[in-house]
Amino acid sequence: MRSIGVVGAGTMGIGIAQCLAVAGHHAVVVDTDDAALARADTALRQAVRLALLLGRGDRAALTRAPESVEWTTDIAALHDAEFVIECVTEEPGLKTSVFRDLDRVCGAATALASCTSAIPIGRLAAATAHPERVLGLHIMNPAPLTGTVEVVRGAQTSAAALDLALAVVGEMGKDGIVVPDRPGFVINRVLMLSIVEAAAAVADGVSAATVDTLFEGCLGHATGPLRTADLIGLDNVADTLTVLRTELNDDRYTAPPVLTALVAAGQYGRKTGQGFHDYR
Ligand SMILES: NC(=O)c1ccc[n+]([C@@H]2O[C@H](COP(=O)([O-])OP(=O)(O)OC[C@H]3O[C@@H](n4cnc5c(N)ncnc54)[C@H](O)[C@@H]3O)[C@@H](O)[C@H]2O)c1
Repeated sequence: MRSIGVVGAGTMGIGIAQCLAVAGHHAVVVDTDDAALARADTALRQAVRLALLLGRGDRAALTRAPESVEWTTDIAALHDAEFVIECVTEEPGLKTSVFRDLDRVCGAATALASCTSAIPIGRLAAATAHPERVLGLHIMNPAPLTGTVEVVRGAQTSAAALDLALAVVGEMGKDGIVVPDRPGFVINRVLMLSIVEAAAAVADGVSAATVDTLFEGCLGHATGPLRTADLIGLDNVADTLTVLRTELNDDRYTAPPVLTALVAAGQYGRKTGQGFHDYR
């Protein structure tokens, strides 16, 4: 059993904490927002109940999982974590400050991973005194159901940090694929342009259902680009596009008006009940 920290109790923090707890680890989840922590505890218990109901996973491991997760607003609780996965909002300045705090709080041997969708790992590593312990762990949503993880090796990431990350990914029952540190890594560099173009089709009058049904039915994708965007969270998609546009200096990564209008209206996708599709 390892003690593993998770920073950010949102969609990804909850799913990753569940994966860690089911794998037999002690997860310490930190968020600055008390209400987010309370919601996260409830959401994790609900997800575990559903998994039990559907017979998805080991019964004993699922049953004990909620008690293996500790929820706190105090980042100092991560002082003896062996590994930390940062999952806060996709804002470069915010993530940089979290890495600065983690560098101060955690022992020098603790490996620090970011679940960022697009921010270069080198940027986050530069905020620390030990850049060799920083790497990316791009786990997809919903974390308990995805089998493969992009493991991002920064220019300075040590073999020890990478090996520990791959071991933890394996313990969660997932395969890690190591990719180089470039904005958006592999998946989001490609996926975000698909979402932009799919949104452009909607602006041209094609329904979201038509776009997604074509991708699902003709190409065999499990979810079309707009349902995928709704699952990621449209606020998160907009933030990721902003990062990619800046990092790559490429205007193709501009959030289209139909997407910014949904975000402005608070329609973030699945988590709010409405996005490109209606989930209510
Ligand atoms: N949602 C997805 O599909 C998905 C997939 C892969 C990666 N990601 C990435 O994972 C990260 C988190 O995404 P999410 O969808 O879980 O976001 P979210 O908005 O659901 O949750 C973010 C959480 O971070 C917390 N937070 C903000 N500042 C903090 C701080 N200083 N310390 C501690 N907690 C803080 C917020 O209170 C919130 O609970 C982002 O970088 C995102 O790009 C998301």
